[in-house]
Amino acid sequence: GCVFAPSPDGMRLKRGGHFVKLWKDCEQLSDLLFSFLRLQVEQILSEFRLNKEELKEVMKRMQHEMDRGLRLETHEEASVKMLPTYVCSTPEGSEVGDFLALDLGGTNFRVMLVKVGEDEERSWKVETTNQMYSIPEDAMTGTAEMLFDYIAECMSDFLDKHHIKHKKLPLGFTFSFPVRHEDLDKGILLNWTKGFKASGAEGNNVVGLLRDAIKRRGDIEMDVVAMVNDTVATMISCYYEDRSCEVGMIVGTGCNACYMEEMRTVELVEGEEGRMCVNTEWGAFGDNGELEEFRLEYDRVVDESSINPGQQLYEKLISGKYMGELVRLVLMKLVNEDLLFNGEASELLKTRGSFETRYVSQVESDTGDRKQIYNILSSLGVLPSELDCDIVHLVCESVSTRSAHMCGAGLAGVINRMRERRCEESLKITVGVDGSVYKLHPW
Ligand code: BGC
Repeated sequence: GCVFAPSPDGMRLKRGGHFVKLWKDCEQLSDLLFSFLRLQVEQILSEFRLNKEELKEVMKRMQHEMDRGLRLETHEEASVKMLPTYVCSTPEGSEVGDFLALDLGGTNFRVMLVKVGEDEERSWKVETTNQMYSIPEDAMTGTAEMLFDYIAECMSDFLDKHHIKHKKLPLGFTFSFPVRHEDLDKGILLNWTKGFKASGAEGNNVVGLLRDAIKRRGDIEMDVVAMVNDTVATMISCYYEDRSCEVGMIVGTGCNACYMEEMRTVELVEGEEGRMCVNTEWGAFGDNGELEEFRLEYDRVVDESSINPGQQLYEKLISGKYMGELVRLVLMKLVNEDLLFNGEASELLKTRGSFETRYVSQVESDTGDRKQIYNILSSLGVLPSELDCDIVHLVCESVSTRSAHMCGAGLAGVINRMRERRCEESLKITVGVDGSVYKLHPW
């Protein structure tokens, strides 16, 4: 119900396809319009907010699927696979010597030399030297042979550089995908996640694939002693510092957790005594429809355009592989509703994958001067107003907060189960956490 007279020094505001000119001194009026715009934006973003009841529901459903994953008769159809890891007791800290470690599962592949020993005061000391190798797209999506040949090539390069090519070192392999173990050093890959697709690996023994590639090269020798998931590696390394660490969680390119479960409930493995670490593979929670009412239109688009549609649906709400794209889709929605960037997006912003997840962390780390946000958006080819910057900040916050809450609901599910099984009223436990999103995001 407002009428605006055009003025050369007026401010232009495009709403609903019309240009409206505001008198410069109509500050109150423009404030009102901004509040109105903000309200509309907040309305759209409110879908990302989950209340306590909803989060408790997510937690309960997670626990239900965890129970189904552990039981022999329901394991096959359960979305949360609860994979035994054959990591039964945690290390004593008495292992000494030189070890080689490999880490495959994120955007990079890492080779590491770990020297464990005692210093002059006879206290325990660990020294690591590592190198990152980026994984070429064709190694990720070609054949398993290509991928593992590349891994062996990186190992050979690393050993060369450190003049230890002649040594046959014990090797630990952190392989961050769902693996059905038969033992600590034997397990078949169930399915790839996080954009990996190398053919001929699923259904095969991963350690075997690695050993074969090493053999094909013929220039190095390794004694592969253990293969663990990254959640398990995180739990173990945290345990060295804190003996109450019995849970490991990753919020990085992917998302997952492991924890120490009572042997008697791990029906897939014989034995009743003690505890075994279970890799929950909770990223696949939701694949049987458990998350349908929580998934939004953006989540569906992200899933449908992914390499593994219908799979890893919980992970797709949370992890770094998808978070930036979720933000981009929301921004596009706001542009199309004329609520952002004057209703116009750049070609780059229209392009899938252009809003990287690290931008979400950077936007939310902005100190209030909007400089960081402005720079990110300009690099994407849009020239934002201050209000645009604030809206982008709100979008990032909404998406990452939902991610954190969803993840927290899953973790509450795991920890409450542990507490119940141990018949404790309360339980003091440490969770070892790692992953790029966890490390880079300010909150
Ligand atoms: C994988 C898990 C892994 C997680 C974090 C998921 O996609 O399935 O095995 O722990 O990513 O890297």
